[in-house]
Amino acid sequence: MKDITILGIESSCDETAAAVVVNGRDVRSNIISSQIDIHRMYGGVVPEIASRKHIENIDPVVRQALETAGMTFNDIDAIAVTYGPGLVGALLVGVAHAKALAYALNKPLIGVHHIEGHISANFIQYKELEPPFICMVVSGGHTHLIKMTGYGEYEIIGKTRDDAAGEAFDKVARALELEYPGGPKIDKLAKTGDPHAIEFPRAKVENAYYDFSFSGVKSAVLNYINSCRMKGVEPDKADIAASFQNCLVDSIVTRTIAAAKEYGLSKVALAGGVAANSGLREGMKNACDKENIELYYPAPVLCTDNAAMIACAGYYEYIKGKRSGLSLNAVPNLKLGEA
Ligand code: KG4
Ligand code: ZN
Repeated sequence: MKDITILGIESSCDETAAAVVVNGRDVRSNIISSQIDIHRMYGGVVPEIASRKHIENIDPVVRQALETAGMTFNDIDAIAVTYGPGLVGALLVGVAHAKALAYALNKPLIGVHHIEGHISANFIQYKELEPPFICMVVSGGHTHLIKMTGYGEYEIIGKTRDDAAGEAFDKVARALELEYPGGPKIDKLAKTGDPHAIEFPRAKVENAYYDFSFSGVKSAVLNYINSCRMKGVEPDKADIAASFQNCLVDSIVTRTIAAAKEYGLSKVALAGGVAANSGLREGMKNACDKENIELYYPAPVLCTDNAAMIACAGYYEYIKGKRSGLSLNAVPNLKLGEA
């Protein structure tokens, strides 16, 4: 069978990324131009700056992806691009670029759901992994517990009712005066703290066991810091980081394992930026080992935003015959299941 080569493009937040992937899982290049250093000065992503930087970076990043793969535009079978969810101005840059390429080169265009991309990062990491499996998606904007029934096919079992896991990490990090993005900083600091020093509340959503709520723990951390300061005591940041992380990991792990058991699946995958968290990986691994469940998670560079995952998801859409056409538009609040 002829190889199928996909050029993936991702620009939904603060990373301009392009990748060349052959047959869905063979990554020939994965170029990521991060804007983190610029946004750090503002304590978070500034949408207007993100869009401007994407415009500057997109063409060189795409060309570098081809060059690194040792290919030209002629070698590409289709162009896959993230069209949502994300920042509208940021998404538009990737979508417009992909549409221009598809038109000029007369190649098919495939719009990809960003979260489907995150899930697909596992297919790149584990060449043998196939659905069905349970996938816990934990990113800066999403927290979804999913049953993957096929490629690009899934049922949503649970989701967050308020903050996403990554959002909670970033907000708590800010309260601890750690730099943006706070997730990796908390991860590091937590290693030196006691995870049982402070018992933060593990929120449950009534009548929806598989749903999450992280705003309560975030407020509890803020209250704890304030009450320490009011007493004139400097809070122990490492203990707070470790206890907060432990609380989040606990609620994520218990629900994921319960879903795997309820649906009779012995494979669990993690996806999204927070899947890079060492406490989550370890906690999930221990729980999976106890239940004889196989755990999958991508390398950290494939957990956070990248275009190889978009090319992989695009490949599975491509072989199913999905084509987007030049009317494709950015959909900032694209829901899962609407792709
Ligand atoms: O998936 P992602 O790159 O972007 C979205 O699609 O949202 O996720 C970014 C999020 C940020 O909130 C960041 O703080 C978090 O992932 N993150 C982490 C770690 N690395 C990235 N959170 C906890 N521990 C980490 N090691
Ligand atoms: Zn993402």
